[in-house]
Amino acid sequence: MTHLDLSVNVDHVATLRNARGGAFPCPVEAARIAVEAGADGITVHLREDRRHIRDRDVERIRTEVATQLNFEMAATEEMVAFAERIRPPYCCIVPEKRAELTTEGGLDVLRAGPFLAQAVQRLRAADVRVSIFIEADPAQIEAAARLGALAIELHTGTYAEGPVADRATQLARLRRGVEAARAAGLLCHAGHGLTYDTVGPIAAWPEVTEVSIGHFLISQSVFEGLPAVVRRFRTLIDAARG
Ligand code: PXP
Repeated sequence: MTHLDLSVNVDHVATLRNARGGAFPCPVEAARIAVEAGADGITVHLREDRRHIRDRDVERIRTEVATQLNFEMAATEEMVAFAERIRPPYCCIVPEKRAELTTEGGLDVLRAGPFLAQAVQRLRAADVRVSIFIEADPAQIEAAARLGALAIELHTGTYAEGPVADRATQLARLRRGVEAARAAGLLCHAGHGLTYDTVGPIAAWPEVTEVSIGHFLISQSVFEGLPAVVRRFRTLIDAARG
């Protein structure tokens, strides 16, 4: 079975740092520790309001941490220009609303304006591999392929954060998304809301090549320590992978 990459999202290390306006805990240091513990990549989301990760954090992770950086961004001129400058290996384009607590749903590729297509083309021209954070809806997935994305990231929030009784239904819906991605020739990533309890069924699908995990992983680190949590996710993912 192919290896499943674990990309650790360090946004909420920055949330904790910003709570006191000082220098710690440092998301760059967290990225380094996560990679040492076995993370295959690091994800950061530079939001328009800079509520957690800041420009300098991204620049430092890009230059100081030897890892596959996945840069999450809204499709705006500011963020495309930033990505063109730092040229991360991966960009994941996400929808962004100022008042939301976190990314609330997948990007509506079908109703996006022309700038989304331009953003994908500009990122590709800068040698950035583009993924689009999306719902498991075949029409959206086919539209992402038409735009020239290399990958989609399936939104797992409804599955992971919804009632346990609903999980089988949500998994079946996600599975249809995985198959639509394969049919469209797209790589398939997954993320949002994943925990020790919910990562297994997603990791078991061989078509999924990366999971991106943040809030639970960073929260659990308060109790267990970041290296231990990364290692436990690695063990759970590898066990599910078979
Ligand atoms: N993938 C995307 C596109 C996201 O926006 C987020 C949240 O920042 C995640 C994955 C990770 O979600 P969580 O923090 O709930 O693990």
